[in-house]
Amino acid sequence: MVERRFAHPVLDASALGDAPVAVRARRRNRDLARRGRRAACRARPLPAPRHPALAGPRLRGQIECPYHGWRFDGAGRCVSIPALPGFAPPASHGLSTLGLTEAHGLLWLQLEADAPLPRFDAEADAKLRKLNVGPYDVAASAPRIVENFLDLAHFGFVHEGWLGDRAHAQLGDYRVEPTATGFVASGCRARQPKSNRLSSEGSWVDYRYEVTSPWSAVLTKLPEKQGGYRDEIGLFVCPGDEESSRVWFRMALTDFDSSDDEIRAFQHTIFTQDQPVLESQRPKRLPLTSGEVHCAADRSSAAYRRFLRDTGVTFGVLS
Ligand SMILES: [Fe+2]
Repeated sequence: MVERRFAHPVLDASALGDAPVAVRARRRNRDLARRGRRAACRARPLPAPRHPALAGPRLRGQIECPYHGWRFDGAGRCVSIPALPGFAPPASHGLSTLGLTEAHGLLWLQLEADAPLPRFDAEADAKLRKLNVGPYDVAASAPRIVENFLDLAHFGFVHEGWLGDRAHAQLGDYRVEPTATGFVASGCRARQPKSNRLSSEGSWVDYRYEVTSPWSAVLTKLPEKQGGYRDEIGLFVCPGDEESSRVWFRMALTDFDSSDDEIRAFQHTIFTQDQPVLESQRPKRLPLTSGEVHCAADRSSAAYRRFLRDTGVTFGVLS
């Protein structure tokens, strides 16, 4: 599957301590554990009853299976089977390991060596304050979630009084251009009553979206007022199953005045307006070729579907 070529966001970077943590990516449970600064351990695909999640206490640098007490070292080698004290476990009894890289406040699982991580250039900008919002577990396919993030025409209805105003629902003639890793939609403009936590009055806001992988996009917001203000919001989605996903927002903001909780509360309000729409969409998998009516205002959606089709993505879509 082409999806293996892309890194999957699976956990907040701060959430992996000494104990292994179970995560889910593309229908498979994986057990993450630290080995030095970077490592992921994945239980071999034993028959289901014999393959419990390994999440639990980690013992002196080792991982203990909570079912039969098998122990594994940080490299995934099985070093002890308590039911057979004299037995030296062969390599086949070990765990296979996968790459786990920290970036953008998250841990990214790499099913293939050196699978590229999506860009988020704002991460390196010291003038922007960074924090994660989420994760949200959403009963929607990852492509539905990304497409909604790119959609401007719903602001005046789903986010009325916040990101949109139904009296200004008309969209301008924004542009879509391909890039090496996705595409950019620019020249988007929206009249927003409350475009961010610090907004005290409505303003026009310029939007620029960049799709950076099948399940990642970056939004840049530039209000015409509030001189120097800039929001960069990374959307990073992990497709747990075809029709359910885990969602993070990586915020990079010029707002250093608000508390983390205040910023999270604003973004939470916005996303929980989107979530019921996302979870009610049918079909839950995004149709790539036909079955849904589009108009000219939906050209970012059309570009996204074309990008998924050209990339060969099959997970969470209807071809
Ligand atoms: Fe929305």
